[in-house]
Amino acid sequence: MRARGGHSARRAGVLMAAAVACVFAGAASAQDAGPVGDAHRGKTLSYTCLGCHGVESYKNAYPMYSVPKLGGQRPEYLAAALHGYREGDRSQFTMHSQASTLSDQDIADIAVYFAGKPLVATGKANGTLPQAAQLCTSCHGLDGVAVAPMYPSLAGQHEDYIVRALEEYRDGGRKNPIMKGFAANLKAEDIAVIARYYSRIMPALRTESRPYTRFGEP
Ligand code: HEC
Ligand code: HEC
Repeated sequence: MRARGGHSARRAGVLMAAAVACVFAGAASAQDAGPVGDAHRGKTLSYTCLGCHGVESYKNAYPMYSVPKLGGQRPEYLAAALHGYREGDRSQFTMHSQASTLSDQDIADIAVYFAGKPLVATGKANGTLPQAAQLCTSCHGLDGVAVAPMYPSLAGQHEDYIVRALEEYRDGGRKNPIMKGFAANLKAEDIAVIARYYSRIMPALRTESRPYTRFGEP
């Protein structure tokens, strides 16, 4: 969009105005999207996170459920989730304290690092879609891969974590208004069927492998 060379320069008046407009439009949309993430910095910042998120099937205690897989989500969603914990839309205590000291830039960097290579939609159902999940696929996909960057993928997520998240939307521990509405009328057996369906889909979300042991760096 920049005016290049003599010919363009002779029409500088019009082109400059257009170029300036483009630069401003670019700046505005970059700002709307939030800070751009740096995965290398994110990796450094994620050291403590991996103590839980880097251990396959690590469990939260009281209540007991698996720590969610983050690898393969879109960075936009992971950032939104971290903002949710930091700002209190998600009340889970551990994650609220983990996120409370993160800046917007830290969140963007960490989100890009954990997302890694986001899952790609296949559009295929995993066998028969349960009745209870009919409405969910418009955002979470038939194949559990989110249709938009701000929505979470559910493919291969831990079954007990999906149950827990739905109970939290239903009971108010998570305040996202979209999901509160969808979870409000789910019965316990619907939640169980939905969680079983999505948690068994491949290709699946991944646990970031922990690059160190509790006794130090390798
Ligand atoms: C002590 C264990 C623990 C540590 C340390 C921890 N987390 Fe978590 N994390 C959890 C648990 C448990 C949940 C699920 C919380 C809930 O029920 O909402 C979670 C949820 C999340 C989610 C939401 C995932 C989703 O699918 O919505 C993100 C993102 C996340 N953590 C990132 C981080 C980052 C980044 C750090 C480090 C700054 C971190 N976590 C440190 C245990 C931990
Ligand atoms: C209009 C789009 C939309 C529809 C339809 C929808 N969801 Fe969601 N879902 C979202 C968004 C957005 C979030 C993230 C909310 C937040 O920030 O906590 C989410 C979050 C979730 C989570 C938490 C994932 C995680 O990693 O923590 C689960 C589980 C879930 N939805 C299941 C469902 C189920 C089951 C249905 C159908 C009954 C459904 N959703 C319908 C948009 C949607």
